[in-house]
Amino acid sequence: MTNGKPSRSTRAIYPGSFDPPTCGHLDVVERAAKCFGELVVAIVVNPQKRSPMFSLDERVAMLKECIASIPNARVEHFRGLLADYVKASQADVIVKGLRVVSDFESEMSAALMNRSLSEVDTFFLMSDQKYSFVSSSLVKEVFFLGGDVGSLVPEPVLRLMARKRAGLHETHS
Ligand code: PNS
Repeated sequence: MTNGKPSRSTRAIYPGSFDPPTCGHLDVVERAAKCFGELVVAIVVNPQKRSPMFSLDERVAMLKECIASIPNARVEHFRGLLADYVKASQADVIVKGLRVVSDFESEMSAALMNRSLSEVDTFFLMSDQKYSFVSSSLVKEVFFLGGDVGSLVPEPVLRLMARKRAGLHETHS
């Protein structure tokens, strides 16, 4: 500690499935990177909710390309409990985005659970209102049914999704 301030920059972890990353995720990364010294975008390897559509390698590659211009942000991945990963990473805070009121209900208990397990607090950023309806699952559904998601996902993500859709059509036609 120097003058009551931490001697290294504040390390924040932004965890998620990122299956795939959306413009809403990227907006949170850009804004959080301005608030904290280091921002680690941490991909959960085995999300419990569902099996991911994009492999870990694909999600890492997409995110790395999306955040390449943000010097204090990097991509990592973790298995198991977020609280354990946060402690092992010596992170100072967890960052999450909040889109709508229903996010708050689940995120509040997650934040309290993570703090009770790791003593690390969660900081919330309100999503930009233009992304308040954007989720990875909706983006996938709309895209694979032929809808235009070009304004909802970053360009590297759109490119890989298009390649995947072409592959799916080849397999099923
Ligand atoms: O993008 P998502 O799917 O909403 O992210 C959810 C994530 C990865 C933050 C959450 O599932 C998580 O923390 N998973 C790790 C397992 C864990 O620690 N579960 C208890 C959370 S209180």
